[in-house]
Amino acid sequence: MATPSIAVIGAGLMGHGIAAIFAASGHQVSLHDPDANILGSAKERIAAIFDLLGWDPAALSNVTYVAAFARCVAQADFVFEAGPEKLEVKRAIFKALGEATKPTAILCTNTSAIPIGLIGAEVADKSRVVGTHYWNPPHLVPLVEVVQAESTSLATVEKTIALLKAAGKSPVHVRRDIPGFIGNRLQHALKREAIALVAEGVCDAETLDTVVKEGFGARMAVCGPLEQSDLVGVNLTLDIHRTLIPDLDRTPGPHPYLVELVAKGELGMSKGKGFRTWTPETAAAVRKRLSDFLAQSARALKEKKR
Ligand SMILES: NC(=O)c1ccc[n+]([C@@H]2O[C@H](COP(=O)([O-])OP(=O)(O)OC[C@H]3O[C@@H](n4cnc5c(N)ncnc54)[C@H](O)[C@@H]3O)[C@@H](O)[C@H]2O)c1
Repeated sequence: MATPSIAVIGAGLMGHGIAAIFAASGHQVSLHDPDANILGSAKERIAAIFDLLGWDPAALSNVTYVAAFARCVAQADFVFEAGPEKLEVKRAIFKALGEATKPTAILCTNTSAIPIGLIGAEVADKSRVVGTHYWNPPHLVPLVEVVQAESTSLATVEKTIALLKAAGKSPVHVRRDIPGFIGNRLQHALKREAIALVAEGVCDAETLDTVVKEGFGARMAVCGPLEQSDLVGVNLTLDIHRTLIPDLDRTPGPHPYLVELVAKGELGMSKGKGFRTWTPETAAAVRKRLSDFLAQSARALKEKKR
């Protein structure tokens, strides 16, 4: 079978990384963005990913940069949409994709939270619309949540999973089109309690981060939470839940502490203050630490899969 050709719509933070992944694994990739500056800078940004991960630069020529939307997607077997997180924009992109692609093309959206069914509402054949939720940066974080909406066919899910696996990603099948899919539900359940602990003065934000990074977070990359429950015995989880669950935060909606931070303009590293206080140097150090760690893990994973 011929190597499927890929189109990526949106060449921003996520889109250029997604394009890089497929180009590196031998696919022809056409990349589109309506913003000429963003499309123009994509080549350099993709080359930087290849450089970071030591990928063969010869594969950079697999990417074509296409200003015309319809020409970008006309021959694609898979389209990955990474446009803005706005329902009306995504819905319009998918309506246009439904008309401009081959009838067999699989149409994937990288939405973080919008239901897939709403995004694909105006595509005639909804069986080929599927969610593919990559994590930032997509070329460094292995997981992709493949989200099956009510109308998505199982064949679409299976073909998408096979494509992602062959490209070295770790796809999982999310069987229902629910807000946050799996990963963001878990991540934000943790953040809800984290914010409440800080708001109630149990600890400061730095201590909270230390507890995660140097406590249970230290084992999480190699042992998932349910695997860990099985490891110690699920009866222990039940005993803990009997005491703990009734005491956990159950504020309905965003915690007032978070709402207040945003109202005060304390948005995080970009403003020098969020949950914690930042200087340009301490913020840069966190970014570097994270990027170095993820790049090292990505290289190690690739070695393991060889
Ligand atoms: N940034 C993250 O951490 C992250 C993680 C997972 C998923 N996502 C999702 O991925 C998608 C893209 O996010 P991002 O962070 O790359 O955003 P981004 O703003 O960096 O990129 C979006 C790109 O879409 C382009 N665009 C605008 N209108 C368009 C249109 N009509 N058609 C095609 N492209 C258009 C913009 O010019 C921009 O380059 C969003 O749905 C976002 O929720 C983001």
